[in-house]
Amino acid sequence: MSVEEHSTVGKGNQGISPPLELPKGSLGLPLVGETLDLLSNGDNFGAERSAKHGKIWKTSILGNPTIMVFDEAACRKVLKEEGRLVEVIWPDVTAELVGAQSLNLLEGAQHIHLKRLLGDAFSEEAVNALLPQLEACARAFCERWAEQGEFSGYEEAKYWAWAMFGAAVMGLPAQLPTGLKLTRLMDDLQAGFQTLPVKLPASPYSRALDARRAICDMINEQIEGMSMQGDCPCCLATMASLDHGLPGSALPRAQLVDNVVAAAFGNASTGPTAAKLFQHLSGSSGARELMRAELAVHAAEGPLTPDKLDKLTYTDAVVQEILRVTPIVPALFRRALQDFEVAGYLVPKGWNLYVHTGSSTQKYNKDSFQPERWLQGSAAAVSMGEAQSSCPAAAEYMLPFGLGPRMCLGRHLVKAALKVLAIVLVRDYSWQLLEPDEEWSVFPVVQPKQGLAVIGFQQTV
Ligand code: HEM
Repeated sequence: MSVEEHSTVGKGNQGISPPLELPKGSLGLPLVGETLDLLSNGDNFGAERSAKHGKIWKTSILGNPTIMVFDEAACRKVLKEEGRLVEVIWPDVTAELVGAQSLNLLEGAQHIHLKRLLGDAFSEEAVNALLPQLEACARAFCERWAEQGEFSGYEEAKYWAWAMFGAAVMGLPAQLPTGLKLTRLMDDLQAGFQTLPVKLPASPYSRALDARRAICDMINEQIEGMSMQGDCPCCLATMASLDHGLPGSALPRAQLVDNVVAAAFGNASTGPTAAKLFQHLSGSSGARELMRAELAVHAAEGPLTPDKLDKLTYTDAVVQEILRVTPIVPALFRRALQDFEVAGYLVPKGWNLYVHTGSSTQKYNKDSFQPERWLQGSAAAVSMGEAQSSCPAAAEYMLPFGLGPRMCLGRHLVKAALKVLAIVLVRDYSWQLLEPDEEWSVFPVVQPKQGLAVIGFQQTV
């Protein structure tokens, strides 16, 4: 039993089991708790305490007593208990910045109903229909990078991610101006979460609200354009045509718009994830060579189709491994709705939980990039010495998209977009990194410490 309602603990033995205790750790100073230590110690804050207290410990951050969960089984179980033992936590400004009707803020039956409905617009099948846009976007950006030759892989991956989102989700052109515009607006919008909600002219919060308005205008324009011209292959078109359950009724416009903004918030992780392609597939990396061999057989030319993509099992493993190393969303926050037990410890009602999903994705050989771990028993895995690789990988150790009712809506889109970009990059281009072993920082944002400078980016075919 890793997660159990506290009231049931001890049942069957007439309550003689000892009361549950809080895990080890410290709540720090009154009010500030251990916040100052977190701010000054950054990346080492969690590592130091985990080494001292184990996989579950307590702290207090920004005035909130918090149980830190680094145990994989406990992470999985906490996330599955969404709505029953725990609830997702969002800052108060989320309703204004993302939208009151967004999936992020809906709860219970309303959340489940809308999530199922929107699932159709972001399903594997829906994403397969978007492969031409994903390929056009990857090609346009690779051509740009070849013209530049040298650039920050981190910045450029962000532009690509926003152009990809604009094209696949909103039906905008799969080109640089889309990427630049959405990057600027989303940077402003996200900055609204890191500032006081002061609505003075030119204050960061007002800029965030302006950015939200501009994005909503773009979404509304796209919806109106679609109803005039019809046929626009993108998630938004599917969302606009979803039947809400009542006879003949579409999703209310406000709900539609809020959930495109919610999807955009989710997409903020896609660029940093894609930047890791530059890092792990550069130069003459083994993964790059194995991918090239596979692509030469199954996707040497012609447009990318679902059939071709299905045959690229090594490339799938590369994408899976890109999602595993240095997870861009290393942890998820929850609040306890009642007292319950996690891995033998008490989680008191009202306390926060920091669910470190990154500990699952990093279970084996944390930093070493080994796509083969996803191909157990395959020729590639055998050739690299499965026995010594000590890297059995299983889906259960992968939570890059979370788990349970709040699991990522855009996961199929992300995987397909990364796969298509990886294919075009590796098949048609080559590059080096100025600092091949550049490290990534984790706190406060997961990002490469020097921006991942790419050099010598050029076409090979
Ligand atoms: C590499 C890229 C991405 C990563 C790592 C990622 C990760 C996640 C994770 C971990 C969650 C769960 C949050 C929680 O349980 O508290 C989540 C939720 C969500 N993601 Fe993503 N995401 C990515 C890209 C996207 C994209 C491209 C979209 C939309 C097109 C998207 C839309 C969403 C939405 C709407 C939610 C909220 C779901 C809900 O509350 O039910 N994400 N994402």
